[in-house]
Amino acid sequence: MNSSRKLKILCVAGARPNFMKISPLMAAFAKTKMIDSVLVHTGQHYDQRMSELFFEQLKIPKPDINLGIRSGSSICQMADMMKAFESACLDVQPDAVLVVGDVNSTVACGITAVKNGITLIHVEAGLRSFDRQMPEEINRILTDSISDLLFVSEPAGVANLKREGVCDDKVFHVGNVMIDSLVSHLEFARQTDICSELKLEKGRYMVVTMHRPSNVDSQETLTEIIDTLYELQLSEKVVFPIHPRTKNNIEKFGLSNRIERMQNLQLIEPLGYLEFLSLMLNSRCILTDSGGVQEESTYLQVPCITARENTERPITVELGSNQLVSVNRAAILTAVKRSKDQQGIQWGIPELWDGKASSRIAQVICDKLG
Ligand code: UD1
Ligand code: UDP
Repeated sequence: MNSSRKLKILCVAGARPNFMKISPLMAAFAKTKMIDSVLVHTGQHYDQRMSELFFEQLKIPKPDINLGIRSGSSICQMADMMKAFESACLDVQPDAVLVVGDVNSTVACGITAVKNGITLIHVEAGLRSFDRQMPEEINRILTDSISDLLFVSEPAGVANLKREGVCDDKVFHVGNVMIDSLVSHLEFARQTDICSELKLEKGRYMVVTMHRPSNVDSQETLTEIIDTLYELQLSEKVVFPIHPRTKNNIEKFGLSNRIERMQNLQLIEPLGYLEFLSLMLNSRCILTDSGGVQEESTYLQVPCITARENTERPITVELGSNQLVSVNRAAILTAVKRSKDQQGIQWGIPELWDGKASSRIAQVICDKLG
């Protein structure tokens, strides 16, 4: 790169969990005065409550380019993203492309960058569930295998990349950018009034999120989850901000009537980031299959139950804040009971989850590419 000009980085975001990762990174890049960020939104998530709301709350600059690629089969979605992102790369001529997380936008834009000879940076590299049925696992493995700089959030990620033969000098254990967003927005989250809006008593309700295809695309599994919620809401208020995939499937499988029967279950639209942080912070425990929620609950010291066979975020289980359980009514009910004994326990917070991961990443990028 010509040393007289700034580094130009094309930053990619497409789906809800990307927004809280890209926000602190772009802020840290701006602070260096050595990096010009250009933001591309692929369009993967497009509802106001899955996208625009996060731009407002997280103060992410308006995307410079919106590829406008919406849902479809993974292949059509990714093929369309690749074509549109290639044009963006040719127009912008960046020094590097930065992708975050493990969604289809991540891998589609990552492959496009590398095929165009552009340096690829992956933030949240190295996480592995070791479950190749999971769409995100394929996205992680492919993206990491072609990245030039890999920024890792927890020690298992470093070990995974080493085992896969990634050169040590490309790998940086810098901490968790999602926690950067949490740290910088916690005070704003505390100022929201979500508990009174939903008529919830602090510490006396559970939060639920479910959207993994393995949990919600099968009628049998989704029915098991809904029957479990029925049991849970008999003894405790349950709040469930529902992901569009899950909402569609509840309708498709004719399960809406079961939900309507549950007097203590509040099924609500997806929440904004600040409201959702506040909802988690004030809850007694969380039942989820989300990746990010496992991390945020660990930081917030709220007991988490992850209804999945595996997790790519093992540190949360090792520290004790997260119980990993099969999607089975008895197993979930037992875990929920156990979470009652966890009240008041303080868990450790993973190393480098301190709100400064993005600044460390910006520094490495300036040192390596500047
Ligand atoms: C995607 C990611 C997943 C991530 C999740 C976060 C992949 C393979 N999956 O899953 O890793 O955990 O986002 O939320 O990239 N839809 C809407 N409005 C929207 C977005 C989606 O109605 O704004 C509906 C559409 O019917 C769509 C379905 O949700 O077909 C699934 O969306 P998609 O982006 O394909 O996958 P997610 O399940 O959201
Ligand atoms: N989240 C949110 N509103 C909601 C549910 C989740 O703001 O109604 C946030 C949550 O705090 C976390 C992120 O969305 O920061 C996680 O995204 P998601 O669960 O969709 O994806 P995953 O992390 O599983 O890929």
